Amino acid sequence: MIIGGTRGIGLALAEHYAGQGATLAVCGRDAARLAGHPLASHPRVSVEEADITDRAALRRAMDAFAPIDLLIVTAGQYTDAAAIAAQPEATLPVLRTNVGGLYDAFDIAAGHMRRQGPGHLVAVASIAGLLRDYPGASLYSASKRAAIAICDTFRKALEPFGIAVTVIVPGYVDTARLRELNGGDASRKPFLQTEAQAVRRIAQAIERRAERCVFPWQLHLQVRLFNLLPRSLRGLRRK
Ligand SMILES: NC(=O)c1ccc[n+]([C@@H]2O[C@H](COP(=O)([O-])OP(=O)(O)OC[C@H]3O[C@@H](n4cnc5c(N)ncnc54)[C@H](OP(=O)(O)O)[C@@H]3O)[C@@H](O)[C@H]2O)c1
Repeated sequence: MIIGGTRGIGLALAEHYAGQGATLAVCGRDAARLAGHPLASHPRVSVEEADITDRAALRRAMDAFAPIDLLIVTAGQYTDAAAIAAQPEATLPVLRTNVGGLYDAFDIAAGHMRRQGPGHLVAVASIAGLLRDYPGASLYSASKRAAIAICDTFRKALEPFGIAVTVIVPGYVDTARLRELNGGDASRKPFLQTEAQAVRRIAQAIERRAERCVFPWQLHLQVRLFNLLPRSLRGLRRK
């Protein structure tokens, strides 16, 4: 099951796993995207409406599709510091999706997996979550830091039950959403990855049941060096 499988990284992963012969459920909220989903008529793919911030809807979708041996959560939303001031009502959904929704999805899926046998939980966080200070997008960065921590906590709790937890920590991936956020062109983002490159890295990490997969290494190195700077210099970083 892929929550957030109607576009971007989630859709690219859905196409990858459908091509591998998997039986899949993909979830999202947008009715037009669900209706026009490229895999809608695929015999082993069911396209479901489910909002990750609605625990009851999530439970219904998972109950209907169980047993689930692999859950991938790519559903995520972005906000920046300017939006917190200009549009405060738009920021709480970011936390509800990136943090609360992820927690609920893992919690419900883990209940299923504990009853049915071993399974695997995967979340797509962000390299922004590794930054100690991200002046342009503090709430997004904080939510992804929380997502990484949630994965680490579930991993520890579920290890005795044979359930693996993988957190994917990507840098910039050239999705339609990233382009929307950057005036239609994300090509200036450092070490930009294509969706195909991201899918390759994510699928490999899932296959290995890796605990954490951070890519690309060049941006990871930059983030680690940036975190070593004194706070006054970190504030000079561009958004
Ligand atoms: N693209 C990047 O550069 C990048 C880098 C690092 C991390 N990430 C993370 O990777 C993930 C995917 O990014 P993306 O660029 O592929 O984003 P995207 O194109 O906006 O895709 C997000 C997917 O999640 C679904 N979704 C959003 N809110 C949801 C909710 N409340 N309930 C259920 N589904 C929901 C969307 O469908 P609906 O809107 O129809 O619900 C869509 O299918 C996100 O978590 C993002 O933070 C992205």
